[in-house]
Amino acid sequence: MSTAQEWSNQSAIDFYSQNRHEISDLYASEKIFLPRVLFPGAMVLDVGCASGGFFNIMRSYEPHIEYTGVDLSERAVALAEERYPEAKFMVTEGFGLPFDDNTFDVVHCTSVFNNEPNYQEMLKEMYRVSNRFVLVDIRLLKGIGNQLESVYDIQFNGQNVEATVPYVVNDADEVANFILQLEPKPKALRGTGYFHQVAKEVEPPHNEVCMTMLLIQKGVLEGGPTTLDLEDLPIEFSISNS
Ligand SMILES: C[S@@+](CC[C@H](N)C(=O)[O-])C[C@H]1O[C@@H](n2cnc3c(N)ncnc32)[C@H](O)[C@@H]1O
Repeated sequence: MSTAQEWSNQSAIDFYSQNRHEISDLYASEKIFLPRVLFPGAMVLDVGCASGGFFNIMRSYEPHIEYTGVDLSERAVALAEERYPEAKFMVTEGFGLPFDDNTFDVVHCTSVFNNEPNYQEMLKEMYRVSNRFVLVDIRLLKGIGNQLESVYDIQFNGQNVEATVPYVVNDADEVANFILQLEPKPKALRGTGYFHQVAKEVEPPHNEVCMTMLLIQKGVLEGGPTTLDLEDLPIEFSISNS
């Protein structure tokens, strides 16, 4: 089954209709950077927006934003449009965003990279269309080489297996080094997060992984070195920041 089909099944649609629309639905790590990057008039792109819950969350922090949500699930986008007619939504793949370079002040993407083996291509696209901030979450571990991929049988209703998607954990140094090599070189890279148990439906079973929010601030050509602020993460990074 394709990713779009997995995320369009009835239980996924129901889950994201009923959850992730309020600030109180956010994980602790998601509440740190988001309110800091939103400002009046900010043009915001939300990649993997499902039924648009983050529009409501973001406008609770800052009512005057220009929000666009994109998702590859037609069903999710139809629901989002119905629920939030005051926002813009589009059916689009995160790998080829139909926007010019530097269009958005904030590009946001949560709960997508943990199911996406090729986070790099999507992140490059998000960085390209941002003129300031890219805010993403990603699961990290130190010293795993490249990437761990397992299978996640998501049980939205707590009983049946409703959707099977990859479960992806990335190598902390690989991710940080990849970000530091984006062009133009980022002005800043900040992180926050904590180790947390992985859902029990992931096969083969995992121990804890670092649930990480990364805030990338876009730089300019010929800009200086990247400011690093990763002290809030329980991981020691080995990265080259020249
Ligand atoms: C787990 S939900 C997360 C929804 C929301 N961002 C949140 O944090 O609650 C993942 C969503 O991302 C969408 N998605 C997954 N891969 C995508 C891609 N390559 N391009 C666009 N949307 C994608 C899925 O269709 C699904 O609606």
